[in-house]
Amino acid sequence: MSDKRVAVIAACGKGLGEAIARALHAHGHSLVMMGRSEGVEDLAKELDGIAVRGDVGETADLQSLIDTAMKAHGRIDAVMNNTGHVRGGNTAATAPVYDPETGGDLLEVSDEDWMGGLNYILLNVVRMARIVTPIMEKQGSGAILNMSSFAHREPAPAFPVGACLRMALGGFTKMYADKYARAGIRMNCILPGFIENYPMSDEIRRRVPLGRSGKLEEVGETANFLLTDAAGYITGQSILVDGGMNRGV
Ligand SMILES: NC(=O)c1ccc[n+]([C@@H]2O[C@H](COP(=O)([O-])OP(=O)(O)OC[C@H]3O[C@@H](n4cnc5c(N)ncnc54)[C@H](OP(=O)(O)O)[C@@H]3O)[C@@H](O)[C@H]2O)c1
Repeated sequence: MSDKRVAVIAACGKGLGEAIARALHAHGHSLVMMGRSEGVEDLAKELDGIAVRGDVGETADLQSLIDTAMKAHGRIDAVMNNTGHVRGGNTAATAPVYDPETGGDLLEVSDEDWMGGLNYILLNVVRMARIVTPIMEKQGSGAILNMSSFAHREPAPAFPVGACLRMALGGFTKMYADKYARAGIRMNCILPGFIENYPMSDEIRRRVPLGRSGKLEEVGETANFLLTDAAGYITGQSILVDGGMNRGV
């Protein structure tokens, strides 16, 4: 059994997953992380963690990630359900450009893109919960954090698939949190705004009260907080890290 806290990170190697891995490592976690390419192996080597190659949309790969963590450490304290960018609207799978003016026609989003969103935003979380909940129930403790986005709170025309499915993710998170709170398991969502690894235009900057992109470390530190006992009384919540962009109160 590990005497350090053990954190599992799905979708890791660069971007927000990497930032969260660095924060969890700095705060004393042993890491077990998954990615599809060698980036995850390089990061694991640097952070003294374990890398597993796999896809968060595949149940067998999620199972192998959890099996690897249990075999190495005998417990799992924290699960970060990170994922990739999904297609749909005018967002491409990689380096999408946000443009509300040309944000794609809602009815032209294909069934394939809607199903991709379901698989990589909601079902990845549901499947991970099926796998890891019995382990955390036995431990009597555990924290799960789901990667979401500012569009979870306020539909953004350029991100129809991400916005709709992340709203569904918020619903699942609340229901899961209700059901497993008494078992000592917490689940929350983190909702980044525009972070520095994503293109930022002057038009978007004007909408952000803090007037800048978020730093990767700011997402990493918030995720670490939500995954540790400092946030022990927070569950079922969707927490924005968006520089004040959302207008809700
Ligand atoms: N960056 C932002 O400003 C921002 C804002 C709001 C929400 N988000 C959300 O945060 C998530 C991460 O965004 P990011 O900007 O960090 O993306 P990114 O820079 O493209 O990094 C994604 C990471 O996840 C891994 N990955 C992607 N798809 C995967 C899959 N199917 N299975 C396993 N690993 C996978 C990638 O590694 P491999 O390629 O090796 O698999 C990569 O290391 C996305 O869901 C995005 O929508 C981002």
